Amino acid sequence: MANESVSIHGIWSSRWVFILAATGSAVGLGNIWKFPYMAGAYGGGAFVLVYLVCIALIGLPIMLAETVLGRRGRQSPVNTLRSLAVQSGASPRWSWAATMGMTAALLILSFYSVVAGWSLDYIIGMGRGEFAGIDGAGAGARFDSMTADPWRLTLWHTLFMLVTGYIIAKGVVAGLERSLRIMMPLLFVLLVVLLGYSLTTGYFMQGVQFLFHFDLSQARAGILAAMGHAFFTLSIGVGSIMVFGSYMPKKSSIGGTVLTVALLDTVVALTAGLALFPIVFAAGLEPSAGPGLMFVTLPIAFGNVMAGQVFGVIFFVLVAIAAWSSAISMLEPAVAFWIERSGKSRARITAVIASICWVVGLGSALSFNVLADAKFFVVDADGWRLFAWGAEGGKTFFDTVDYVTSRIMLPLGGLLFALFAGWVLGRDVFKAELGLKYPRLFPVVYWLLRYVAPVGVAIVFVTELYN
Ligand code: TRP
Repeated sequence: MANESVSIHGIWSSRWVFILAATGSAVGLGNIWKFPYMAGAYGGGAFVLVYLVCIALIGLPIMLAETVLGRRGRQSPVNTLRSLAVQSGASPRWSWAATMGMTAALLILSFYSVVAGWSLDYIIGMGRGEFAGIDGAGAGARFDSMTADPWRLTLWHTLFMLVTGYIIAKGVVAGLERSLRIMMPLLFVLLVVLLGYSLTTGYFMQGVQFLFHFDLSQARAGILAAMGHAFFTLSIGVGSIMVFGSYMPKKSSIGGTVLTVALLDTVVALTAGLALFPIVFAAGLEPSAGPGLMFVTLPIAFGNVMAGQVFGVIFFVLVAIAAWSSAISMLEPAVAFWIERSGKSRARITAVIASICWVVGLGSALSFNVLADAKFFVVDADGWRLFAWGAEGGKTFFDTVDYVTSRIMLPLGGLLFALFAGWVLGRDVFKAELGLKYPRLFPVVYWLLRYVAPVGVAIVFVTELYN
């Protein structure tokens, strides 16, 4: 086959670039913004425990599978699955798993861009010194007044999407390597600085306690949430990692690489949690405050330390960069697919797809203000309804897109990728492509992929149905 060793979209200079790109994809708002507020909403330790177990037993094997499939197929995820299925004598309909994934990635990008836009707003706020000496109430009011303004949210969402599209139009390889090599380590250093601040609040142990003391009786309620977040944070189940795998050089080993990425991702999330929660408790905030948690908590830290204004600007710049390096991985599977399919230029295709995401994202931006009363999946005294205006319960557009992608589409996509790699691709192909440094481990890895990961996802789905 002509495309056996090279992708038409380019190839990375080394395994390192894959690690950078995959880490750039994995580490993002999911670690710094979403992980803490999810842990806060689902009771802390119980959520963290299930999340870690899901990363190790379900996430890692699926991430391996995606990388293997991508490098073997050397095309966009949809065409990779189609051609590998045909080569293996299976139905080309397997590609539907990647079509669903591609759609999920674009849906995620639509609201991700809105939240990333908040961090752009906070760069300006920090620079202006809006947070000097601020307390919990002041920081909360600042967040609320930002989200209440539809124009402001739309402006930042637009800017974020434009830059994302620009990077993708230039091609994933150019530029990415240079920026990530410096920015990602710097982000981590600043998180550690924040951790230092948390140590001075006098509430550090309370934060540790909250994140790591688990009460198993509580674990059940958040189990699907935790598994969904494990997928989200590793960027798996949609083809993001697969498309990056397709640009990976032939000779590099996949096993160690994927493990590195997952470890880095987990360390960043736990560090962010440990930095955030002591500040939450010290300021008397609620851990269950929801999506605003990080945006209310961090200004308190930066607003009350020496040179906090400077650190605050740098921090939110780094958050925005981490978000961009994640956002491009959501756009790339669809762009690569349409380039293969239509042969049109990367720039034109990017413009069209990013515009569609931008429009859908408007729904999320407006769900914090003018569309706040538009509720989906409502359960109340009148029974269950898909949509109701002004209902008490239910989910806003933003919540709905997040819910449907993270809790249904990602795990389902990941399940199908694992089944494909484990049961369709063939053991020898998988083994050769994986190229483990310690071949004795192969049976364990293969067993995790074929049985543990798919059964794990299925169990979580079934448990949730009974809850
Ligand atoms: N993992 C990223 C984060 O934690 C987000 C992300 C990038 C993602 N690509 C993805 C999530 C694909 C789901 C699917 O911020």
